[in-house]
Formats: sequence, structure tokens, C-alpha cells
Amino acid sequence: MPNPTNPINVALIGSKFMGRAHSNAWLNVGRFFPDAGQAVMHTVAARNAKEVQAFAEQWGWANAGTNWREAATDAEVDLVDVATPNHVHAEQAIAALEAGKHVVCEKPLAGTLADAKAMVDAAEVGGGRTFVWYNYRRVPAVALAHRLVQNGLLGRIYHVRAAYLQSWGGPDTPLLWRFQGDVAGSGAHGDLNAHIIDAVRFITGEEIVRIDGAIEHTFIEERATLAEGAGGEIAGAGADTGGMGESTVDDAVMFMGRLSGGGLASFEASRLATGYHNANRWEIHGEKGAVRFDFERMNELEVYDLDHDGDRQGWTTIDVTRGGDGHPYMEAWWPDSHGLGYEHGFVNQAADILTMLGGGQPLVPMPDFADAYRTQQVLDAALTSAREGQAVDIG
Ligand SMILES: NC(=O)c1ccc[n+]([C@@H]2O[C@H](COP(=O)([O-])OP(=O)(O)OC[C@H]3O[C@@H](n4cnc5c(N)ncnc54)[C@H](O)[C@@H]3O)[C@@H](O)[C@H]2O)c1
Repeated sequence: MPNPTNPINVALIGSKFMGRAHSNAWLNVGRFFPDAGQAVMHTVAARNAKEVQAFAEQWGWANAGTNWREAATDAEVDLVDVATPNHVHAEQAIAALEAGKHVVCEKPLAGTLADAKAMVDAAEVGGGRTFVWYNYRRVPAVALAHRLVQNGLLGRIYHVRAAYLQSWGGPDTPLLWRFQGDVAGSGAHGDLNAHIIDAVRFITGEEIVRIDGAIEHTFIEERATLAEGAGGEIAGAGADTGGMGESTVDDAVMFMGRLSGGGLASFEASRLATGYHNANRWEIHGEKGAVRFDFERMNELEVYDLDHDGDRQGWTTIDVTRGGDGHPYMEAWWPDSHGLGYEHGFVNQAADILTMLGGGQPLVPMPDFADAYRTQQVLDAALTSAREGQAVDIG
């Protein structure tokens, strides 16, 4: 049944890495998920007038400008999509909520716990709904893991081992906003651990209730400063640089915690894990079996099932691309074994957002601001544990 509230007019703030990923999602969602409804690409706002105009033309946004507030409060806009650095999430999301808009915000919810709390408070009084781009939930293999674990595949959970490993943050990478503590909040931690904390909470359905120890470390303490207006996505390769400036975030954070069901969990995030580029990976071990995933092989989920006879036991690799076999989201895409990529998780999420705005249910649970705040509490507790050298209970 077509979505009754459609079309949804979207205003996007931010036009670089996530700006492109989200534009692709809004552009394609109605084509692959026609029942979810239609998104209208109403306005994009970003800081550089010339760039944002070119961006709008390239991606099909009807309007472009440098005034995000005007875009976020425009009477014609229904949904505001926040794809900017972490220190402005709160201001932009709260302004949109106060104008009665629905808001979908990038992760981590904010750079600080206080900003994240203000966002949750604004969401409670605002009339709009909130969503957070924890996009990996909607990678079919991850959604399948969620479904299998929620259906009891693992039984009681004993261990979680999660790591998000990248290697673009070497000494030649300039002082992008991602290395500025007042903008990003933290480094690899808020950027990468945020995703795997969310994944563990999503798949197990359990909360991380205590941090028992953590290490935070900055290997590269100084980086080349960027010339005004220079940018570049993530690594900033080729950007104009000036002098040197201090990096005020971690390059790597590791921590151990306890799950609400009694299991033990370890988390590791690094931008200096030579050999890995986007290894968002986790293993979960329970009394009846285990699952493991690595985003560098994103169309596969590995399962170990103790129900099989002993002589058949071993890791099974499932090619999670078969809509006919019920693999999440795959019916909307291609025939079996025509694999998906990074961008599809965002399109799948856009479909669930439109479905929810039309009164329907998402295929798998969607994080709102309150849910993402729980992940933010874990991020914050891990840093407190690292800095104070002690265990931290999460209320
Ligand atoms: N979900 C994911 O997988 C994923 C991946 C990368 C980044 N992110 C998150 O997305 C957000 C944006 O990251 P990115 O990689 O797209 O950054 P980016 O540097 O590539 O782009 C940032 C954009 O925000 C704009 N901007 C910056 N400050 C602004 C301000 N004050 N007002 C208006 N616009 C402003 C810039 O002009 C630019 O268009 C961050 O919160 C980041 O953590 C999420």
C-alpha cells in the first residue's frame, strides 16, 4: 500500500561524504522501495556557496544555499537530514525539532554527552520523529544476525569481540575536523566504536552496563593544518596545508565491558590498524552457537550452530543476498548473489524512515535519539574509564 503521508520533503545539511551517501539514498529510495513512498529532494545547505550549488545540480536537489537554519525551518520541509560534523548536530537538530520537523541525524548523536542529552530532551517535546544514521543495522547480513540472535540462535550470550579497524589516520593525514576535539568530540572512538557499540546493542538486544577498563591513545600528536576552505573526505588527501597543529583526539581506543545479560565484551577502534581499511567486525558467542561478521566481506554472515551433529559442526558462510530466502531488504534489490555495497544500507534506512513516517514498521528496529543516547553513554563512560583508570557503571 502506498505511504499515505508522501511525498516527504527533505532538507539536507552537509554536502561531503555523508551528504553524498544520503543524497544517493533519497534519490533512489522511491525507485527500489516504491511502497515506502517518495522523498522529494527539496533543499541542500552547506558552507561553500559555489560547491553546494554544484552539488545540488549533480544530485538533483531543487534548492541550495549556505543558510542551514533557513533550510531546516522552511515551511515546506518535512524531514531535516543532519550530515555535518558532530559539534553542530545538537544546534541543527534542535532547531529543526523546534520548527516541528522530523529529524534524521548522523552518528555519533553528538560530540558530547551533554549535547546528546539536549537533543533527546528536544525530541521529547518536539512533534517530529527522530532517527539516527546507524546505517550498518540495515546491511542485510547484520539485519539477518539481529533476526537470528533475537530468534534464539545463540541462547545466553557469553562473549562479544568487536573491532572497527581503519588505517587512513597516519602522520601524513592533515588536521581535518575529525582530529579536532572541540568539533568531533573524540577520534576513532566516537567515529568507529560508536558503530560497533550500536551493532552489539542491536544484535544482542542487551545493554552495555559497565566499563571495566579502557585505553585511549593518540599516536600522532601533531598534524598539518588545512588551508582555509580546504577539505577532502576522510583522509583529506591532496588538501592544501599550512603549518602544524595539535591533534586533540584519540587515534585508538580499546575498552572492556559487561552486558546486561552477564556476558563479557571487548571493543577496539583504530585509525592506525595497518592492513585494514574498513574492517567493521564482530564475533558473538553464546551457549548454543556463534555469529561473526566483517564489513570488508559485507554480503556474508558466518554462523556456528551447536544444534548440528558434532561431525557437521563448523562455521557456515551464508551469502546474504537472497530475497527469495527471506534475507532482509534483498527482495527490493537484485537476483540472488548480486551483492550489495556500502550505499545500500543508507537506501534501506531511507526506506524504513519513509515507511515509519507513513505509520508503518521498519524491517528491523530503528534507532531514535533516545536509543542513540544509550550508545553515547557507553562512549562517554569508556573515556571516563580510560582517563580515571577505573571501572564505570552506566546508569
Ligand atoms: N554513518 C556512517 O557510516 C558515517 C560515515 C562517515 C561520517 N559519518 C558522520 O557524518 C557526519 C558528517 O561526516 P562527513 O564524513 O560527511 O564529513 P565531511 O567533512 O565529509 O562533510 C561535512 C559537511 O558538513 C558541512 N558543514 C560543516 N560545518 C557546518 C556548519 N557549521 N553548518 C553547516 N554545514 C556545515 C561541510 O560544509 C560539509 O559539507 C559526522 O557526524 C560523521 O561522524 C557517518
